[in-house]
Amino acid sequence: LWTPGNIIEDSIAKVRAQVGSDAVLLGLSGGVDSSVVAALLHRAIGSQLTCVFVDNGLLRLGEGDQVMSTFARHMGVRVVRVDAEDRFLGRLKGVTDPEQKRKIIGNTFIEVFDDEASKLANVQWLAQGTIYPDVIESAGAKSGKATVIKSHHNVGGLPEEMNLKLVEPLRELFKDEVRKIGIELGLPSEMVYRHPFPGPGLAVRILGEVQKDDAVTLRKADHIFIEELRRADLYDQVSQAFAVFLPVRSVGVVGDKRQYAHVIALRAVETLDFMTARWAHLPYDFLDLVCRRIVNEVPGVSRVVYDITGKPPGTIEWE
Ligand code: XMP
Repeated sequence: LWTPGNIIEDSIAKVRAQVGSDAVLLGLSGGVDSSVVAALLHRAIGSQLTCVFVDNGLLRLGEGDQVMSTFARHMGVRVVRVDAEDRFLGRLKGVTDPEQKRKIIGNTFIEVFDDEASKLANVQWLAQGTIYPDVIESAGAKSGKATVIKSHHNVGGLPEEMNLKLVEPLRELFKDEVRKIGIELGLPSEMVYRHPFPGPGLAVRILGEVQKDDAVTLRKADHIFIEELRRADLYDQVSQAFAVFLPVRSVGVVGDKRQYAHVIALRAVETLDFMTARWAHLPYDFLDLVCRRIVNEVPGVSRVVYDITGKPPGTIEWE
């Protein structure tokens, strides 16, 4: 009988049998899959688990603190937080091509993760949040779409010198099953039912070169949009929603001052499979409120537009 409780008991027994008293390493991204693996492994093997959380400077507002508070403070999971913002932004300097940005972020992520891993003596296992659809997908090598560490290790194999064995407790589960298990394990529902967030993070939502100041601006605008979606009970009705930073300037009047500042685009879509999507027909009054808040509260933004492109012909992300 499939119940979240049964699956958890079963997985715990399997993990314990698999790793024995060995130490296990997990790359925690804050996404649903790695979060559920962290909670599950913590329950199964407690302090044998160490998580590495890489803050690449391209996360949403408060995301790093949220991950630390949920896992380290509340659950007592051992989490090493790596502040790698300068390293990532340094590598991205002057780079404008989307695929190039993705590649750099992927490689830098692996570097940072491997650096941290090599500091931890005696780790024998690498845990991953691979779920069943990833297993099917990686057969077709859809690189770049799964989280970086996942696609790297799934497609390319483990870093040779580390010689780690893989533990993938979610490998047979679908997303909705993973979510149910997450809830049963006590993870907050906002974490478990979160919209997907791309591995390269805000780097693909800041068009062209990624500048630190623009990331700060985008984070604030995005946070207002998401906060209002939740407040209006619209968050769960859309599949994915976010703000995009456009590096062009437009004239506006903010307060009584003329402002020549940047443009924010809002994107919200409804989809089942993320292969095709329709733009969410959010209420005009709602869009009006979000626009006003962004222009009034986020310095350096003079205009807000709403993206009404479906997929196809558009993609969900702008890069
Ligand atoms: P697109 O933009 O291709 O996005 O319509 C479809 C879904 O995939 C996500 N996405 C990514 N996820 N790394 C990821 O981990 C990426 O490079 C990437 N690009 C797009 C996107 O957020 C949407 O959910």
